[in-house]
Amino acid sequence: MTNRLDKYEWFYSMLGNPMASFGTISADVHRVRRGALGPFFSTQAVVKFYPHMQAIVDRLIARMELCAERDEEIPLFYAYRCLTVDIISEYVFAHQMGLLDRADWGRYFYSAWRSLWELSPTIRQFPFMMDAIMSMPRWMTKLTDPRALEVVDLFSDIDHQTKVLLESDPEIIKAQPHSTVIWELSKSDALPPSEKTFRRLAVEANGLVAAGFETTGGTLTLMTYLVLSHPQVHQKLLEELEKAAPDPNKTPGFQVLEKLPYLFAVVKESLRVSVGAYSRLSRVNRHESMQYKQWTIPAGTAVGMSALFIAHDPEIFPKPLSFIPERWLETDGSIGPTANRLEHYLLAFGKGSRACVGINLAYAELYSVLFTVVRRFGRRIELYETTDRDLEAVHDYFAGMTRRPDGVEGNGLRVKIRKE
Ligand code: HEM
Repeated sequence: MTNRLDKYEWFYSMLGNPMASFGTISADVHRVRRGALGPFFSTQAVVKFYPHMQAIVDRLIARMELCAERDEEIPLFYAYRCLTVDIISEYVFAHQMGLLDRADWGRYFYSAWRSLWELSPTIRQFPFMMDAIMSMPRWMTKLTDPRALEVVDLFSDIDHQTKVLLESDPEIIKAQPHSTVIWELSKSDALPPSEKTFRRLAVEANGLVAAGFETTGGTLTLMTYLVLSHPQVHQKLLEELEKAAPDPNKTPGFQVLEKLPYLFAVVKESLRVSVGAYSRLSRVNRHESMQYKQWTIPAGTAVGMSALFIAHDPEIFPKPLSFIPERWLETDGSIGPTANRLEHYLLAFGKGSRACVGINLAYAELYSVLFTVVRRFGRRIELYETTDRDLEAVHDYFAGMTRRPDGVEGNGLRVKIRKE
Protein backbone atom coordinates (compact mmCIF):
# COMPACT_ATOMS: atom_id res chain seq x y z
CA MET A 1 0.00 0.00 0.00
CA THR A 2 1.25 3.50 -0.80
CA ASN A 3 2.07 5.85 2.04
CA ARG A 4 1.23 8.84 -0.17
CA LEU A 5 -2.05 9.63 1.51
CA ASP A 6 -3.58 13.06 0.98
CA LYS A 7 -5.42 14.91 3.71
CA TYR A 8 -9.19 15.05 3.16
CA GLU A 9 -9.94 18.43 1.67
CA TRP A 10 -13.46 18.79 3.04
CA PHE A 11 -12.40 18.04 6.59
CA TYR A 12 -9.34 20.32 6.57
CA SER A 13 -11.15 23.22 4.90
CA MET A 14 -12.34 24.16 8.40
CA LEU A 15 -9.46 26.55 9.02
CA GLY A 16 -8.98 27.46 5.36
CA ASN A 17 -5.22 27.14 5.32
CA PRO A 18 -4.11 24.82 2.49
CA MET A 19 -0.89 26.80 1.99
CA ALA A 20 0.39 25.98 5.48
CA SER A 21 2.15 22.65 6.09
CA PHE A 22 -0.61 21.66 8.50
CA GLY A 23 -3.44 22.23 6.01
CA THR A 24 -1.62 21.00 2.87
CA ILE A 25 -3.84 18.49 1.11
CA SER A 26 -1.55 16.84 -1.46
CA ALA A 27 1.03 14.38 -0.09
CA ASP A 28 3.47 15.42 -2.83
CA VAL A 29 3.31 19.13 -2.03
CA HIS A 30 3.48 18.30 1.67
CA ARG A 31 6.70 16.33 1.23
CA VAL A 32 8.43 19.44 -0.15
CA ARG A 33 7.13 21.75 2.59
CA ARG A 34 7.85 19.32 5.40
CA GLY A 35 11.35 18.67 4.02
CA ALA A 36 12.12 22.37 4.39
CA LEU A 37 10.37 22.87 7.75
CA GLY A 38 11.36 19.66 9.56
CA PRO A 39 15.03 20.50 10.29
CA PHE A 40 14.02 23.55 12.38
CA PHE A 41 12.16 21.28 14.78
CA SER A 42 14.71 18.45 15.03
CA THR A 43 16.00 17.46 18.48
CA GLN A 44 19.27 19.30 17.76
CA ALA A 45 17.44 22.49 16.74
CA VAL A 46 15.29 22.38 19.86
CA VAL A 47 18.33 21.79 22.11
CA LYS A 48 19.84 24.97 20.61
CA PHE A 49 16.64 26.94 21.16
CA TYR A 50 16.08 25.55 24.67
CA PRO A 51 17.89 28.28 26.71
CA HIS A 52 15.81 30.96 24.94
CA MET A 53 12.68 28.98 25.59
CA GLN A 54 13.62 28.53 29.25
CA ALA A 55 14.16 32.29 29.58
CA ILE A 56 10.51 32.76 28.53
CA VAL A 57 9.39 30.10 31.03
CA ASP A 58 11.34 32.00 33.71
CA ARG A 59 9.40 35.18 32.83
CA LEU A 60 6.19 33.32 33.53
CA ILE A 61 7.60 32.07 36.83
CA ALA A 62 8.63 35.62 37.81
CA ARG A 63 5.10 36.88 37.13
CA MET A 64 3.68 34.00 39.16
CA GLU A 65 6.02 34.94 42.05
CA LEU A 66 4.68 38.47 41.89
CA CYS A 67 1.09 37.21 42.09
CA ALA A 68 2.11 35.08 45.09
CA GLU A 69 3.51 38.14 46.88
CA ARG A 70 0.24 40.00 46.25
CA ASP A 71 -1.86 36.96 47.16
CA GLU A 72 -3.53 37.09 43.72
CA GLU A 73 -5.06 34.12 41.91
CA ILE A 74 -3.26 33.10 38.71
CA PRO A 75 -5.39 32.19 35.67
CA LEU A 76 -3.05 29.44 34.50
CA PHE A 77 -5.37 28.54 31.61
CA TYR A 78 -4.51 31.89 30.03
CA ALA A 79 -0.99 32.14 31.43
CA TYR A 80 0.05 28.91 29.69
CA ARG A 81 -1.36 30.14 26.37
CA CYS A 82 0.62 33.39 26.80
CA LEU A 83 3.71 31.31 27.38
CA THR A 84 3.27 29.05 24.36
CA VAL A 85 2.46 31.98 22.05
CA ASP A 86 5.54 33.89 23.19
CA ILE A 87 7.70 30.79 22.69
CA ILE A 88 6.43 29.93 19.21
CA SER A 89 6.43 33.57 18.04
CA GLU A 90 10.01 33.99 19.26
CA TYR A 91 11.03 30.97 17.22
CA VAL A 92 9.00 31.80 14.12
CA PHE A 93 9.55 35.61 13.92
CA ALA A 94 12.40 36.32 16.40
CA HIS A 95 9.81 38.61 17.95
CA GLN A 96 7.61 37.65 20.85
CA MET A 97 4.00 38.68 20.72
CA GLY A 98 4.56 39.73 24.34
CA LEU A 99 1.44 38.08 25.75
CA LEU A 100 3.18 37.30 29.05
CA ASP A 101 3.48 41.05 29.64
CA ARG A 102 -0.18 41.79 29.06
CA ALA A 103 -2.17 42.75 32.11
CA ASP A 104 -5.18 40.69 30.91
CA TRP A 105 -3.05 37.52 30.49
CA GLY A 106 -3.87 37.52 26.76
CA ARG A 107 -7.62 36.99 27.18
CA TYR A 108 -8.44 39.00 24.03
CA PHE A 109 -5.91 37.07 21.95
CA TYR A 110 -7.27 33.73 23.14
CA SER A 111 -10.82 34.86 22.53
CA ALA A 112 -10.00 35.63 18.86
CA TRP A 113 -8.62 32.15 18.25
CA ARG A 114 -11.42 30.58 20.20
CA SER A 115 -13.91 32.38 17.96
CA LEU A 116 -12.21 30.92 14.91
CA TRP A 117 -12.45 27.39 16.31
CA GLU A 118 -16.09 27.95 17.18
CA LEU A 119 -16.73 29.06 13.61
CA SER A 120 -14.74 26.15 12.17
CA PRO A 121 -17.55 23.54 11.90
CA THR A 122 -19.61 26.11 9.95
CA ILE A 123 -16.64 27.07 7.76
CA ARG A 124 -16.19 23.39 6.94
CA GLN A 125 -19.73 23.31 5.51
CA PHE A 126 -19.35 26.67 3.75
CA PRO A 127 -15.61 27.12 3.02
CA PHE A 128 -16.21 30.33 1.00
CA MET A 129 -17.23 31.91 4.32
CA MET A 130 -13.59 32.33 5.34
CA ASP A 131 -12.72 34.25 2.14
CA ALA A 132 -15.88 36.31 2.54
CA ILE A 133 -14.94 37.23 6.12
CA MET A 134 -11.39 38.14 5.11
CA SER A 135 -12.45 40.36 2.20
CA MET A 136 -15.31 42.20 3.95
CA PRO A 137 -14.80 45.80 5.07
CA ARG A 138 -14.04 45.93 8.79
CA TRP A 139 -17.25 47.75 9.72
CA MET A 140 -19.35 45.15 7.92
CA THR A 141 -17.60 42.27 9.66
CA LYS A 142 -18.18 44.01 12.98
CA LEU A 143 -21.91 44.24 12.22
CA THR A 144 -22.18 40.66 10.93
CA ASP A 145 -20.20 38.83 13.58
CA PRO A 146 -17.88 40.49 16.13
CA ARG A 147 -16.17 37.12 16.70
CA ALA A 148 -15.08 37.11 13.05
CA LEU A 149 -13.64 40.61 13.48
CA GLU A 150 -11.31 39.35 16.19
CA VAL A 151 -10.08 36.69 13.75
CA VAL A 152 -9.49 39.21 10.95
CA ASP A 153 -7.44 41.42 13.29
CA LEU A 154 -5.43 38.45 14.45
CA PHE A 155 -4.58 37.34 10.92
CA SER A 156 -3.53 40.85 9.92
CA ASP A 157 -1.27 41.00 12.95
CA ILE A 158 0.51 37.80 11.85
CA ASP A 159 0.77 39.15 8.27
CA HIS A 160 2.32 42.29 9.72
CA GLN A 161 4.87 40.34 11.79
CA THR A 162 5.83 38.30 8.72
CA LYS A 163 6.28 41.46 6.62
CA VAL A 164 8.43 43.13 9.28
CA LEU A 165 10.59 40.03 9.52
CA LEU A 166 11.05 39.57 5.78
CA GLU A 167 11.98 43.23 5.38
CA SER A 168 14.51 43.10 8.23
CA ASP A 169 18.18 43.84 7.79
CA PRO A 170 19.86 40.42 7.21
CA GLU A 171 22.69 41.44 9.54
CA ILE A 172 20.21 41.86 12.40
CA ILE A 173 18.71 38.44 11.71
CA LYS A 174 22.15 36.85 11.49
CA ALA A 175 22.95 38.27 14.92
CA GLN A 176 19.93 36.48 16.45
CA PRO A 177 21.08 33.79 18.88
CA HIS A 178 18.75 31.17 17.35
CA SER A 179 17.26 30.34 13.93
CA THR A 180 14.16 32.26 12.87
CA VAL A 181 11.96 29.77 11.07
CA ILE A 182 10.13 32.04 8.62
CA TRP A 183 13.29 33.93 7.68
CA GLU A 184 15.18 30.67 7.08
CA LEU A 185 12.31 29.31 4.97
CA SER A 186 12.37 32.46 2.84
CA LYS A 187 16.03 31.74 2.04
CA SER A 188 15.74 27.94 1.84
CA ASP A 189 17.11 26.08 -1.20
CA ALA A 190 14.74 23.23 -0.38
CA LEU A 191 11.76 25.33 -1.57
CA PRO A 192 11.00 26.59 -5.09
CA PRO A 193 10.31 30.37 -5.45
CA SER A 194 6.54 29.76 -5.60
CA GLU A 195 6.76 28.43 -2.03
CA LYS A 196 8.60 31.50 -0.77
CA THR A 197 6.12 34.23 -1.62
CA PHE A 198 5.03 36.60 1.14
CA ARG A 199 1.51 35.11 1.17
CA ARG A 200 2.71 31.51 1.48
CA LEU A 201 5.15 32.36 4.27
CA ALA A 202 2.57 34.43 6.16
CA VAL A 203 0.13 31.52 6.00
CA GLU A 204 2.85 29.10 7.17
CA ALA A 205 3.62 31.46 10.07
CA ASN A 206 -0.05 31.62 10.95
CA GLY A 207 -0.28 27.81 10.84
CA LEU A 208 2.77 27.41 13.09
CA VAL A 209 1.42 29.82 15.70
CA ALA A 210 -1.98 28.11 15.59
CA ALA A 211 -0.55 24.59 15.77
CA GLY A 212 2.07 25.45 18.39
CA PHE A 213 0.12 27.37 20.99
CA GLU A 214 -3.27 25.89 21.85
CA THR A 215 -2.17 22.24 21.70
CA THR A 216 0.76 22.79 24.06
CA GLY A 217 -1.12 25.32 26.21
CA GLY A 218 -4.02 22.90 26.59
CA THR A 219 -1.77 19.98 27.53
CA LEU A 220 0.11 22.11 30.08
CA THR A 221 -3.19 23.20 31.60
CA LEU A 222 -4.54 19.68 31.92
CA MET A 223 -1.22 18.28 33.14
CA THR A 224 -0.92 20.87 35.92
CA TYR A 225 -4.51 20.26 36.98
CA LEU A 226 -3.97 16.48 37.06
CA VAL A 227 -0.88 16.86 39.24
CA LEU A 228 -2.45 19.37 41.65
CA SER A 229 -5.68 17.39 41.97
CA HIS A 230 -3.76 14.19 42.82
CA PRO A 231 -1.80 15.10 45.99
CA GLN A 232 0.08 11.78 46.11
CA VAL A 233 1.30 12.31 42.52
CA HIS A 234 2.29 15.90 43.37
CA GLN A 235 4.26 14.72 46.41
CA LYS A 236 6.01 11.85 44.62
CA LEU A 237 6.97 14.11 41.72
CA LEU A 238 8.26 16.81 44.04
CA GLU A 239 10.44 14.30 45.90
CA GLU A 240 11.97 13.09 42.62
CA LEU A 241 12.64 16.64 41.40
CA GLU A 242 14.16 17.78 44.72
CA LYS A 243 16.54 14.85 44.61
CA ALA A 244 17.46 15.36 40.94
CA ALA A 245 17.88 19.14 41.15
CA PRO A 246 18.90 20.41 44.60
CA ASP A 247 18.92 24.04 43.34
CA PRO A 248 15.31 25.02 42.54
CA ASN A 249 16.47 27.96 40.42
CA LYS A 250 18.40 25.86 37.90
CA THR A 251 16.40 23.93 35.32
CA PRO A 252 18.33 21.08 33.69
CA GLY A 253 18.10 20.54 29.91
CA PHE A 254 15.02 18.67 28.70
CA GLN A 255 17.13 15.69 27.65
CA VAL A 256 18.12 15.32 31.32
CA LEU A 257 14.55 15.91 32.50
CA GLU A 258 12.98 13.30 30.23
CA LYS A 259 15.15 10.62 31.88
CA LEU A 260 13.63 11.27 35.33
CA PRO A 261 11.22 8.32 35.54
CA TYR A 262 8.32 9.84 37.46
CA LEU A 263 8.42 13.13 35.54
CA PHE A 264 8.50 11.11 32.31
CA ALA A 265 5.49 9.05 33.47
CA VAL A 266 3.46 12.16 34.42
CA VAL A 267 4.14 13.79 31.03
CA LYS A 268 3.21 10.65 29.07
CA GLU A 269 0.09 9.97 31.11
CA SER A 270 -1.02 13.60 30.75
CA LEU A 271 -0.60 13.37 26.97
CA ARG A 272 -2.68 10.19 26.96
CA VAL A 273 -5.45 11.80 29.03
CA SER A 274 -5.33 14.96 26.89
CA VAL A 275 -5.81 12.80 23.73
CA GLY A 276 -4.39 15.44 21.32
CA ALA A 277 -6.75 15.80 18.35
CA TYR A 278 -10.24 14.50 19.13
CA SER A 279 -11.39 14.71 15.52
CA ARG A 280 -10.88 11.89 13.06
CA LEU A 281 -7.69 12.75 11.17
CA SER A 282 -9.02 11.88 7.74
CA ARG A 283 -6.88 10.78 4.81
CA VAL A 284 -7.57 9.82 1.20
CA ASN A 285 -5.71 7.28 -0.92
CA ARG A 286 -6.27 8.54 -4.45
CA HIS A 287 -4.08 5.94 -6.11
CA GLU A 288 -5.38 2.54 -5.01
CA SER A 289 -8.03 0.79 -2.99
CA MET A 290 -7.22 -0.30 0.55
CA GLN A 291 -8.06 -3.55 2.30
CA TYR A 292 -9.24 -3.61 5.93
CA LYS A 293 -10.11 -7.14 7.09
CA GLN A 294 -12.86 -8.28 4.68
CA TRP A 295 -13.64 -4.74 3.49
CA THR A 296 -12.23 -3.14 0.36
CA ILE A 297 -12.15 0.66 0.59
CA PRO A 298 -12.27 2.17 -2.93
CA ALA A 299 -9.55 4.65 -3.97
CA GLY A 300 -10.62 8.22 -3.20
CA THR A 301 -12.61 7.33 -0.06
CA ALA A 302 -11.82 9.36 3.06
CA VAL A 303 -10.86 7.28 6.10
CA GLY A 304 -9.91 8.46 9.56
CA MET A 305 -9.76 7.60 13.23
CA SER A 306 -9.88 9.55 16.46
CA ALA A 307 -7.02 9.10 18.94
CA LEU A 308 -9.70 8.99 21.64
CA PHE A 309 -10.56 5.36 20.80
CA ILE A 310 -7.02 4.22 21.59
CA ALA A 311 -6.41 6.57 24.55
CA HIS A 312 -9.57 5.19 26.22
CA ASP A 313 -9.20 1.53 25.23
CA PRO A 314 -9.31 -0.42 28.54
CA GLU A 315 -7.39 -3.34 27.03
CA ILE A 316 -4.40 -1.09 26.38
CA PHE A 317 -4.85 1.35 29.27
CA PRO A 318 -6.81 -0.34 32.11
CA LYS A 319 -9.04 2.14 34.00
CA PRO A 320 -8.63 4.58 31.09
CA LEU A 321 -10.47 7.44 32.77
CA SER A 322 -8.08 7.47 35.73
CA PHE A 323 -4.80 9.38 35.85
CA ILE A 324 -2.19 6.72 36.68
CA PRO A 325 1.39 7.78 35.78
CA GLU A 326 2.70 4.51 37.25
CA ARG A 327 1.24 2.57 34.32
CA TRP A 328 4.16 3.85 32.19
CA LEU A 329 6.85 2.47 34.53
CA GLU A 330 8.26 -0.92 35.54
CA THR A 331 7.33 -2.24 38.99
CA ASP A 332 10.67 -0.95 40.33
CA GLY A 333 9.76 2.56 39.09
CA SER A 334 12.22 2.64 36.17
CA ILE A 335 11.62 3.43 32.49
CA GLY A 336 11.72 0.19 30.46
CA PRO A 337 9.83 -2.11 28.07
CA THR A 338 6.39 -1.07 29.39
CA ALA A 339 6.99 2.51 28.26
CA ASN A 340 8.18 1.30 24.84
CA ARG A 341 5.05 -0.80 24.43
CA LEU A 342 2.66 1.98 25.48
CA GLU A 343 4.47 4.63 23.41
CA HIS A 344 3.23 2.76 20.35
CA TYR A 345 -0.34 3.58 21.43
CA LEU A 346 0.26 7.22 22.33
CA LEU A 347 -1.35 9.09 19.46
CA ALA A 348 -1.41 12.62 20.88
CA PHE A 349 1.02 13.82 18.19
CA GLY A 350 -0.37 11.63 15.40
CA LYS A 351 1.81 9.07 13.59
CA GLY A 352 3.42 8.78 10.17
CA SER A 353 4.37 11.39 7.59
CA ARG A 354 1.76 13.90 8.81
CA ALA A 355 2.61 13.54 12.51
CA CYS A 356 3.33 16.69 14.50
CA VAL A 357 6.43 18.48 13.28
CA GLY A 358 6.67 20.35 16.60
CA ILE A 359 6.86 17.25 18.81
CA ASN A 360 10.39 17.96 20.12
CA LEU A 361 9.56 21.58 20.92
CA ALA A 362 6.32 20.47 22.59
CA TYR A 363 8.13 17.92 24.79
CA ALA A 364 10.76 20.51 25.70
CA GLU A 365 7.98 22.87 26.83
CA LEU A 366 6.09 20.19 28.77
CA TYR A 367 9.18 18.97 30.65
CA SER A 368 10.56 22.41 31.33
CA VAL A 369 7.28 23.90 32.61
CA LEU A 370 6.27 20.95 34.76
CA PHE A 371 9.73 20.76 36.27
CA THR A 372 9.95 24.52 36.88
CA VAL A 373 6.47 24.99 38.33
CA VAL A 374 6.62 21.97 40.66
CA ARG A 375 10.27 22.38 41.73
CA ARG A 376 10.04 26.16 42.25
CA PHE A 377 6.69 26.32 44.05
CA GLY A 378 6.70 22.89 45.73
CA ARG A 379 3.62 22.38 47.89
CA ARG A 380 2.91 26.14 47.96
CA ILE A 381 0.97 25.97 44.67
CA GLU A 382 -2.69 24.97 45.04
CA LEU A 383 -5.80 24.84 42.89
CA TYR A 384 -8.07 27.85 43.31
CA GLU A 385 -11.80 27.34 42.71
CA THR A 386 -11.15 24.89 39.87
CA THR A 387 -13.02 21.64 39.41
CA ASP A 388 -13.12 18.75 36.92
CA ARG A 389 -15.90 20.62 35.12
CA ASP A 390 -13.48 23.42 34.17
CA LEU A 391 -11.09 20.95 32.55
CA GLU A 392 -13.62 18.68 30.87
CA ALA A 393 -13.29 18.50 27.07
CA VAL A 394 -16.80 19.35 25.90
CA HIS A 395 -16.14 20.52 22.32
CA ASP A 396 -14.46 18.84 19.38
CA TYR A 397 -12.90 21.72 17.47
CA PHE A 398 -10.18 19.43 16.11
CA ALA A 399 -8.49 19.42 19.54
CA GLY A 400 -10.81 18.66 22.41
CA MET A 401 -11.70 21.94 24.10
CA THR A 402 -13.01 22.89 27.50
CA ARG A 403 -15.76 25.38 28.20
CA ARG A 404 -14.70 28.97 27.50
CA PRO A 405 -12.93 30.14 30.66
CA ASP A 406 -14.84 33.40 30.65
CA GLY A 407 -16.44 33.04 34.07
CA VAL A 408 -19.80 32.32 32.40
CA GLU A 409 -19.36 28.97 30.64
CA GLY A 410 -16.42 27.88 32.79
CA ASN A 411 -13.51 29.18 34.82
CA GLY A 412 -10.45 27.50 33.33
CA LEU A 413 -7.52 26.48 35.53
CA ARG A 414 -6.73 28.89 38.36
CA VAL A 415 -4.15 28.50 41.11
CA LYS A 416 -2.84 30.38 44.12
CA ILE A 417 0.67 30.23 45.49
CA ARG A 418 1.16 30.63 49.22
CA LYS A 419 3.87 33.10 50.30
CA GLU A 420 7.10 31.47 51.52
C1 HEM B 1 1.31 19.00 23.17
C2 HEM B 1 1.45 19.71 22.08
C3 HEM B 1 1.04 19.28 20.70
C4 HEM B 1 0.14 18.32 20.29
C5 HEM B 1 -0.70 17.41 21.17
C6 HEM B 1 0.15 18.32 18.83
C7 HEM B 1 -0.61 17.47 18.04
C8 HEM B 1 -0.54 17.40 16.67
C9 HEM B 1 -1.24 16.44 15.85
C10 HEM B 1 -2.19 15.36 16.36
C11 HEM B 1 -0.91 16.69 14.56
C12 HEM B 1 -1.42 15.93 13.33
C13 HEM B 1 -2.57 16.69 12.73
C14 HEM B 1 -3.19 16.06 11.51
O1 HEM B 1 -2.91 14.92 11.18
O2 HEM B 1 -4.01 16.74 10.90
C15 HEM B 1 -0.01 17.81 14.55
C16 HEM B 1 0.54 18.37 13.42
C17 HEM B 1 1.30 19.51 13.43
N1 HEM B 1 1.79 20.16 14.54
FE1 HEM B 1 1.51 19.67 16.45
N2 HEM B 1 1.02 19.29 18.40
C18 HEM B 1 1.59 19.89 19.50
C19 HEM B 1 2.54 20.89 19.50
C20 HEM B 1 3.01 21.51 18.39
C21 HEM B 1 4.00 22.56 18.39
C22 HEM B 1 4.70 23.17 19.62
C23 HEM B 1 4.16 22.95 17.10
C24 HEM B 1 5.11 24.03 16.68
C25 HEM B 1 5.43 24.36 15.55
C26 HEM B 1 3.31 22.11 16.26
C27 HEM B 1 3.18 22.18 14.88
C28 HEM B 1 2.50 21.26 14.10
C29 HEM B 1 2.47 21.31 12.64
C30 HEM B 1 3.12 22.37 11.75
C31 HEM B 1 1.72 20.20 12.22
C32 HEM B 1 1.44 19.78 10.79
C33 HEM B 1 2.54 18.80 10.40
C34 HEM B 1 2.49 18.32 8.97
O3 HEM B 1 1.41 18.07 8.42
O4 HEM B 1 3.59 18.16 8.43
N3 HEM B 1 2.63 21.25 17.09
N4 HEM B 1 0.22 18.23 15.85
